[in-house]
Amino acid sequence: MSTTPTIEILPTAADLFHAAAEEFTRVGRRAIGAHGRYSVALSGGSTPKSLYSLLASNYADFPWARTYFFFGDERHVPPTDPESNYRMVNETMLSKISIPSSNVFRVQAENPDAAAAAAAYETQLKDFFDLKPGEFPRFDLILLGMGPDGHTASLFPGSEGLKDQTHLVIANWVEKFKTHRISFTFPVLNHAAEVMFLASGPDKAEMISDVLEGKSSEGKSPEAKWTEEKNTPRYPAQRVQPQNGTLLWMLDEAAAAKLKHRAPAG
Ligand code: 6PG
Repeated sequence: MSTTPTIEILPTAADLFHAAAEEFTRVGRRAIGAHGRYSVALSGGSTPKSLYSLLASNYADFPWARTYFFFGDERHVPPTDPESNYRMVNETMLSKISIPSSNVFRVQAENPDAAAAAAAYETQLKDFFDLKPGEFPRFDLILLGMGPDGHTASLFPGSEGLKDQTHLVIANWVEKFKTHRISFTFPVLNHAAEVMFLASGPDKAEMISDVLEGKSSEGKSPEAKWTEEKNTPRYPAQRVQPQNGTLLWMLDEAAAAKLKHRAPAG
């Protein structure tokens, strides 16, 4: 069953990150109210940096002690490396908020054996969510970005990891970077209570239109596009379809510039 996304378009990048911070904290307060804790998987790359900085600077009173952070993907590098998603998140947010270090679950990506790092992280997820064999974790929120090639987390077009329906975390070989990336699999992404995609800037506009509206279905309604595209998802980001959750795309005007169908504002 395909999940119809909610698409929120904000005028500027600054508006986008403010709205994303509001959504992050709204989902968090609701989760803590409902089950006493907030489980979040963070995304890497450059787009979420402004969100993390905003959360650190404007939400000091947020219940960080009941918030638990995981990483949806990580580069196969030590935490001190400039490429490290953990390093980026630590510099922009973790080092500035009052969160116990035991609430932050970092991928041990310094392990030269990427598969072993992925397996160890999978064990951490199973322990944290107290999973039985065959079960998948239900994050309260998974943050995702999207690359210009339509990849998300570290699930890249043409990579083996796209097919994995049994593991929670994989070491996915990315041919174009000639390296492994440690990444959540689609089943983990699609078991979340909410998935929030963040995309900003003109560089993303073409792919946003392809992913959300599909290339080859001129003149059809958005739902029809989803159903049709779903059968042969062209891009990894199109396979993110929470089965029993919310799918939210938060875009700034520049990233949404090529969308043909938009919900009326307000
Ligand atoms: C990563 C990310 C990746 C990212 C996209 C978009 O580790 O790089 O998790 O999936 O979200 O590549 O990256 P930008 O935000 O830098 O465009």
